[in-house]
Amino acid sequence: MDFSPLFTPYSVGPLTLPNRFIMPAMQRELSPGGVPSEEMARHYRERVEGGVSLVIGEATAVDHPTSTHYWKYARLTGPSLDGWKRVRDAVKDAGGALFIQLWHEGAVRKEGEGPHPDVRTISPSGRIQASEPVGRAMAPGDLVEIKDAFLRGARTARELGVDGIEIHCAHGYLFDQFLWGETNARTDGYGGDHVGRTRYPCEVISAIRSEVGPDFPISARISQWKERNFDGRIADTPDQLHDILAAFRTAGVDVFHASTRRFWTPEFEGSDLGFAGWVKSLTDASVITVGSVGLDNDIMASLYGEHASSTGRPGLQELLRRFRNNEFDLVAVGRSILGDPNWVRKVREGRFDELRPFTKADLAFLT
Ligand SMILES: Cc1cc2nc3c(=O)[nH]c(=O)nc-3n(C[C@H](O)[C@H](O)[C@H](O)COP(=O)(O)O)c2cc1C
Repeated sequence: MDFSPLFTPYSVGPLTLPNRFIMPAMQRELSPGGVPSEEMARHYRERVEGGVSLVIGEATAVDHPTSTHYWKYARLTGPSLDGWKRVRDAVKDAGGALFIQLWHEGAVRKEGEGPHPDVRTISPSGRIQASEPVGRAMAPGDLVEIKDAFLRGARTARELGVDGIEIHCAHGYLFDQFLWGETNARTDGYGGDHVGRTRYPCEVISAIRSEVGPDFPISARISQWKERNFDGRIADTPDQLHDILAAFRTAGVDVFHASTRRFWTPEFEGSDLGFAGWVKSLTDASVITVGSVGLDNDIMASLYGEHASSTGRPGLQELLRRFRNNEFDLVAVGRSILGDPNWVRKVREGRFDELRPFTKADLAFLT
C-alpha cells in the first residue's frame, strides 16, 4: 500500500507542514512548578527528528488561580516563558512547528489541591455531571476574568514566536462544560440550546482572534466524549454539529481538532463517517483526526492501565482510505509516538516490523 499521500505538504495560514502527521497535546508532567523543563524540550525534539511535522505543546493552564490543581503542568507566565523558549528552539531547530494548547480545567479542578488550595473551583453551572455538584457557577465577573486569562495566554504565545495555538474545548474541561447540556444549565444567554452553549467559548476565541490578528493559526480541539462520560455529546445530530462549527468558524477558528477515542468509529447513524469526517463535511476549516492510530485500544483504556497492541499496517490502511476520501487533512498520533519517537519516519520508510509498540510503561510517569 502506498502511504505517500500522507507525506505531502499541507498549509494552515502562513504555516506549511511537510507531512500530515502531527503530535497532539499530551501532558507529560515535565514542567515542575509550571516551567517546561529541558527534558520536555528533548522529548519534543526527538519526536520532530522522528518525522512529526507539528507538535501541539501540552495543556497549558491559563493565568488564573482557578485554571488547574496540577503543579507539574506548564504555565505561560514568569519563569515558564524561558522554559517555553527552550521548547520552541528545540522544536524549530529540528525543523518542526509548535502550537501551545491553552486550557482551563473548570469543574475537573480538585478544590483544596495545587498552587491555589483556597480558591474555589468554577465552571458554567458548578457541576461536573448532571448529578455531581462541584465548586460554584461562574459569575459575570468570572466570565470576564477567564476571557482575559485566555487573551493573555494567546498574546504571550504569539510573542514567544510559536506557530499557533490550540484552544482546549474538549474532553470535559471548561469550554466543553459550556458546550455540553449536562454541565451547562445557565439562563443568562450563555446556556440554552446547542448554539447558546457555544456563546462563551466563541466570545473568547473571537477576542483572541482580534488580539493575534489574521495570520496566527487557531485550532479548536472539540470532542463529543468526555473523560468522565464517553457517551456525552455536544451535538445530537449533524445539523447541530454544523451550527456549532459555524459559530466557532465565525469566531476565527482555522483548524478543528476533532478528538475521538478511535478515528474509525461512525459518529451518526446511516454513515460510516467518523467525527472528523463529519466535521470536514460541514466546514471549510482544516480538520485533524485522532484516536488510536496504529493501536488497538483507546486512550482511556491506556490511562486505566491496559496494554495496547500495535495494529501496524492494517490500521493505517483504514486511515489512508479515509484520508483519500477527504475525511481530514492532518492526523494526530498520540500514544504510538510516545512509544516510538521515530514512528512517523518508520511508517514513511515502510519499516512496520520495527515500530516499537506503545506499552503502559510509557505512561509510568503519571502520578
Ligand atoms: C499521557 C497523555 C496525556 C494527554 N494530555 C492531553 C492534553 O494535555 N491535552 C489534550 O487535549 N489531550 C491530551 N491527551 C489526549 C491525546 O492528545 C490524544 O487525544 C489521545 O491520546 C488519543 O490519541 P492516541 O489514541 O493516538 O493516543 C493526552 C493523552 C495521553 C496519553
